[in-house]
Amino acid sequence: MDIKRLIRLAAVIALPLIGLALAVFSSPTPTPTPTSTPLPVADADEHQLFITNGCAACHGQNGDGSPIAPALAGHSEATVERQVRTPRLQMPSFTVDQISDEELELIADYIASLEGEGNEHHEGMELTAALEMHHWMALDAIEVGEPDEAIHHVQHIIDLLEAGDHHDRMEAVLEALQAGDVHDPEHEIEEMLAGTASPDLSLRDLHLQQAMAAIATDEVPDALHHVLHAQNEADPSAADALGEIVDLLNAGELHDAEHEIGELLSGEVHAD
Ligand code: HEC
Repeated sequence: MDIKRLIRLAAVIALPLIGLALAVFSSPTPTPTPTSTPLPVADADEHQLFITNGCAACHGQNGDGSPIAPALAGHSEATVERQVRTPRLQMPSFTVDQISDEELELIADYIASLEGEGNEHHEGMELTAALEMHHWMALDAIEVGEPDEAIHHVQHIIDLLEAGDHHDRMEAVLEALQAGDVHDPEHEIEEMLAGTASPDLSLRDLHLQQAMAAIATDEVPDALHHVLHAQNEADPSAADALGEIVDLLNAGELHDAEHEIGELLSGEVHAD
């Protein structure tokens, strides 16, 4: 048994206490419906966290989807963590104060253990929303080093698209990913996301959002990479603010960097 496993075991033992505290302090969430096959103890606790933290309220009792949120099978731990800390579309975000890193790891573990094709992913979602979501998820999957998961989302995009330029470019992305290339696909998906899949999103803001996601999971080099890209896409009025963000990231001032990026994204920084 390795150290990580031991730590996780310790966390699992402490969980009933956390669960109790959550049950007392959290807003009411639906009571779990008993599953026919009882889960092993550790898995049951992971599932319990999925429910007490409200994920089940939207994603269904067993993560199998609902009319308001997609099914979750097929997601790796790393993409779940990104999505929960920095969702880009409808889903609310959860801070470390709301769900600790340890709890999130257990919830992500639970989701990673779910079985299913994930074809129910976008059932009930508007086509444009489903397309946008799969672009973000493919991008995140590439960035956290899960190319197979990215392939899965790219395949969904291809299935959803009518024949045309976007479709063809996605086919090329799929081929490149299958051949083990991640660099070109990443840039292609970014370009198709900003403007096409998400008409109001500029490339600058896309990179800033990816920087936010990277900061939220402590991937500082990734965050820097995106801020540098944002600098290339930005108009001169944002140059100072972006320069400051680079300095903050280099100095390890992640919280301030996040704050500054948030201001840029909300349009609160103007040329003076
Ligand atoms: C208020 C409803 C709501 C809650 C609560 C919620 N989600 Fe979501 N979630 C969504 C919606 C809607 C989406 C689709 C993408 C979007 O709009 O952000 C989504 C997307 C996701 C995705 C990406 C799915 C995909 O196939 O691309 C993951 C992973 C996820 N949620 C995990 C969680 C976890 C874990 C929790 C609990 C900590 C949670 N969600 C809580 C509504 C919710």
